[in-house]
Order: sequence, then structure tokens, then C-alpha cells
Amino acid sequence: MIRACCIGWPIHHVRSPLIHRFWLKAYGIDGDYSREAVEPGGAADFLRTLADRGFAGCNVTIPHKEAAFAAMDEVEPGAVAVGAVNTVWHDGGRLIGMNSDVTGFLRNLDDQVPGWDVEVGHAVVLGAGGAARGIVHGLLSRGVEIVTLANRSRGKAEAIAAGHPGRIRVVTWDDLPAILPGADLLVNTTSLGMSGQLPLVLPLDALKPSAVVSDIVYVPLTTPLLADAARRGHRTAEGLGMLLHQAVPGFQKWFGVTPEVTAELHALLAADIRGH
Ligand code: ATR
Repeated sequence: MIRACCIGWPIHHVRSPLIHRFWLKAYGIDGDYSREAVEPGGAADFLRTLADRGFAGCNVTIPHKEAAFAAMDEVEPGAVAVGAVNTVWHDGGRLIGMNSDVTGFLRNLDDQVPGWDVEVGHAVVLGAGGAARGIVHGLLSRGVEIVTLANRSRGKAEAIAAGHPGRIRVVTWDDLPAILPGADLLVNTTSLGMSGQLPLVLPLDALKPSAVVSDIVYVPLTTPLLADAARRGHRTAEGLGMLLHQAVPGFQKWFGVTPEVTAELHALLAADIRGH
């Protein structure tokens, strides 16, 4: 039996087992995918003994993505740019890592808003945490010319901007009404709008009709931001698709099959999210 897992702290809320077990069953693979609670500071030790513990590989979630990056023998280029790893496997005793959050975000946009990248010169990204760092890198790599970053803590936005000279403009939240008319794509990477968190307050009146709106929050499935955008006729991309697509590369590495993100899988996760 091939085994994989997800490490994080806390870990009980992580939905990856639902996704991977769905695929294991669908493809008739003798395998399992479990949640492993690993305390802050414990990721490097766990990863170094991954094979001894019987795992072909693992996903890495909060708070271990940077520690996992540091613990790798080899890191794929996309993860080097972001400084964080969320998918790990071993090969001949060497630990190899990648970052599928970035590819998952882009693949989801490709799926939900085909052709989104044809006319995106200017993207506005809300937030400057780990997710924003990857998403900004991904957008620039796909040909977006300029990213405007707005974050509560300006210093974190400036740190991301320093990694992409001339491509990122840092603004304050209060500047957004003046910035939005020029946006082709608006992405929320903050936790605002998530169940139990503060709402995301941002009037969308100034957005042009062709602008695309995307949110990485997936609890609730349709955030107030996405509902408002859809009501105004904008094309939107919800966060659940990113979660599903980021799981694909790991499954492929560990279990040897490239799995499909199907409507049935989407419905399974959506039901689980609605049920909580
Ligand atoms: P992730 O890895 O998911 O990006 P993170 O690194 O904790 O998680 O980042 C969370 C993002 O949500 C940050 O941009 C954070 O803003 P700060 O950098 O100022 O902390 C943003 N965020 C969280 N709560 C917020 C709030 N109440 N108001 C504004 N922004 C908030």
C-alpha cells in the first residue's frame, strides 16, 4: 500500500484526505492519505524521516511551508521563487519539493474563466501573506504586466514588491476606490470574508464590467465578494477549485496517476464545506 499524508498544526480542519481518498477509490489504487499533526518547529524532523515512517510523500500546510522549503534537498523553480513548499516526495533518498498552490490558483482561473489572461494587464491583489506571495509570482509569470498590492501591513506588501522590481505597486486599502477602475483582475488572498472572520468591505462599483474577480477563501463556497461580483455581472473564480487543483501534482507524484478534478469531486467537497 502506498501512503501519503498532510502535515500541519492544527490539522483537524484539513480537507485533503477527502480529495485524495476520492481519487484513490476512483482509480482503484491501494493507498491511503492521512492527516499528521506536526507541532510548530517539528517539520524538518518529520520530513527527514518521511520514508522511515512509510510515506511516499506529503502535503505541507500552515505553519510549515517555509520550514519544509528549507528542509528540501531539491526544490522546483516555482517554489524557489515563492520560498515555500506544499508538496514533498522522495527520490533515491533525496527530498524534493514543489509549490502547487501557485499552479492550483492558475489552473483554477484557467478552468473557471477561460481566456482570463488574454487581456489582463493590471491585477489588484488584496493581502500580502504566503498565499499572496505565490499568487503574485504566478500572475507575473503568466504575463500580467502590473500588480497592485494592498495589505493591512504595508511592510509585507513592500517585501513582496522588492522581489519583483518595477512590476508591483504598493497602495493602501484607502487607495483602492481610485485604483479599481483600472483593474482587469481582482484577487482576494486575505482571510477577510471567511466564516468566522471579519467581512471584506470593498465597494465594487468602480470595477469595469470586463474585470474578473477571484477569491481564495472557500468557506463559505461563495464569499460575499464573489456574490457581489457575480450580481454585477463579473466573471468570477471561487476558492474551492484552487484547493482541488493544488492536490493534483502530489497525487501524481505519490500514486503515479494524474487525477482529474471532476464535478463529482467538487460536489463532495462542497457538501462537506456546507455541512460545517
Ligand atoms: P496566507 O498564507 O493564507 O496568505 P497569512 O500569511 O496569515 O496567510 O496572510 C493572511 C492575509 O490576510 C494577510 O495579508 C493579512 O494581513 P496582514 O499582513 O496585515 O496581517 C490579511 N488579514 C488577515 N486578517 C485581516 C484583517 N482583519 N484585516 C485586514 N487584513 C487581514
